[in-house]
Amino acid sequence: MLTDAAKALLHQDLARVAAQGEAFADGVFDAWFAGAADAERLFQTHSFSTKREMIDATLIAVHDLVDGASWLRWDLAAFGARHAGTYEVRDEMYGAYVDAVLASLRGVFAGELGAEREAAWRDALSRIVGAMQRWHHLDEVAEVLARPG
Ligand code: HEM
Repeated sequence: MLTDAAKALLHQDLARVAAQGEAFADGVFDAWFAGAADAERLFQTHSFSTKREMIDATLIAVHDLVDGASWLRWDLAAFGARHAGTYEVRDEMYGAYVDAVLASLRGVFAGELGAEREAAWRDALSRIVGAMQRWHHLDEVAEVLARPG
């Protein structure tokens, strides 16, 4: 489970990030595609509204993880199954996405992110993408989310 301190930081940050809207979303995809041509290729035939949907889903997953929402495991299992099965996403592509979200957060917070907040975000995002990759083992999905912080 995330620590209470991490939950409090993420709770504060989520409102601020959501208020940035497009700037945050653009920052993620700019940082991601600058270094991940394999991921960019998978999006080439898709519209930006789907990319924005992905950013919103990522922020909602962080929010649900902070809140301990019981349905998060099912959402992430479904996302993971669709990503692996329909979009041909490979497990090793998830790390670069987490790095890109962090890069965009640094931009949005303009030097105020700091090591503690960054660690809280990395912890939450790593759990979320780790759980997505266990979509074929639902018992492991729940275990990844609840691991001691
Ligand atoms: C926190 C991690 C992620 C979350 C929560 C997430 C969530 C989503 C959501 C909600 C969609 C919209 C369509 C749907 O519901 O299936 C989507 C689309 C997509 N995602 Fe992700 N995603 C994540 C990471 C990734 C990664 C690492 C890749 C690697 C390339 C990826 C590739 C795609 C592609 C290609 C689409 C477009 C599908 C289409 O338009 O047909 N996603 N994602």
